[in-house]
Amino acid sequence: MIVSIAGPKGGVGKTVFVANFAVALGKKGYKVIALDLDLGAANLHVLFNAMQAEVSLYSFLDKSVATLAEAAVSTEYPNVFLVSGAGHVPGLANIFYQTKMKLIRHIKKLEYDIILLDLGAGSAYNTLDFYSIGQKKIIVTNPEITSVMNSYSFLKSYVFRKIERYLRENRRFETLTYLSELKNPENTLGLKTVPQIVEYLKTKDSTLGDDFESALNGSGFTVIFNRTKKNEDDKIAKAFCSLVNQYLGVSNYFIVRLPEDENLPVSVAKRKPLIEIDPESPFVAGIEDFVEKFEIT
Ligand SMILES: Nc1ncnc2c1ncn2[C@@H]1O[C@H](COP(=O)(O)OP(=O)(O)OP(=O)(O)O)[C@@H](O)[C@H]1O
Ligand SMILES: [Mg+2]
Repeated sequence: MIVSIAGPKGGVGKTVFVANFAVALGKKGYKVIALDLDLGAANLHVLFNAMQAEVSLYSFLDKSVATLAEAAVSTEYPNVFLVSGAGHVPGLANIFYQTKMKLIRHIKKLEYDIILLDLGAGSAYNTLDFYSIGQKKIIVTNPEITSVMNSYSFLKSYVFRKIERYLRENRRFETLTYLSELKNPENTLGLKTVPQIVEYLKTKDSTLGDDFESALNGSGFTVIFNRTKKNEDDKIAKAFCSLVNQYLGVSNYFIVRLPEDENLPVSVAKRKPLIEIDPESPFVAGIEDFVEKFEIT
């Protein structure tokens, strides 16, 4: 199963989440691989203390190895493997479409129980496309308003890209021109929300049927509110999700809270996931709780 982890604001905790989640899943007996897809700003290898990995994502991209599977290394943690992004190559953040599609094909062929994609910040098309291949999708945010707003914008970009893709693949070019117009919030038709836009597009092209609804439902996600400190943060989490539901028409989501934990920066400095050095910490308890829920959802 592929699990994509995005967090449009930088530094919100995507990578520490992925490292600890990977080790927690490995402890449960799953064969896990974590891929650093933060092209150009990778640091997952730091948390696994894999600074000198013999192979990495770049070995695959520069064709030193033929398959992505050959770019994986084992880690100190049982059942946990890594495709490191170490070894910065200038310009790498902007890989070409064909390279991206090849990478996606190889990700889908990996033979692991769980494949975790640690994505970069921002809403670039590459990030949206990696995000979309997750059978489960996770957004990491902090409770700060700037982070929450970036997460909303990311999901909006994702939903629009998904609708656009659908229309293009099904050669609904006329409907596509309407969509471009509707992207403008000042559109003269007064359509403000994605559900309104979908209804409108259906009247333009009745054969679109219920496809849009199922596409939107398939966009369900888990939102991780990391670094929560107080009850007030709960209200922000709920407000965010109802905004996503109302404006983007995505109703299928879970909320997970991970607390602020003063030992996390310590674990990063030690280049180990927190679960290794402080397994009783509240952050780790939150991750393990999520692993239990994750298995049944
Ligand atoms: N729950 C937490 N409690 C305390 N500190 C935290 C917590 N989560 C993350 N941090 C701190 O935030 C730093 C940044 O986290 P991380 O590198 O995982 O963010 P990121 O979203 O992956 O960033 P980038 O966008 O650069 O990839 C960590 O090194 C850690 O010190
Ligand atoms: Mg990161």
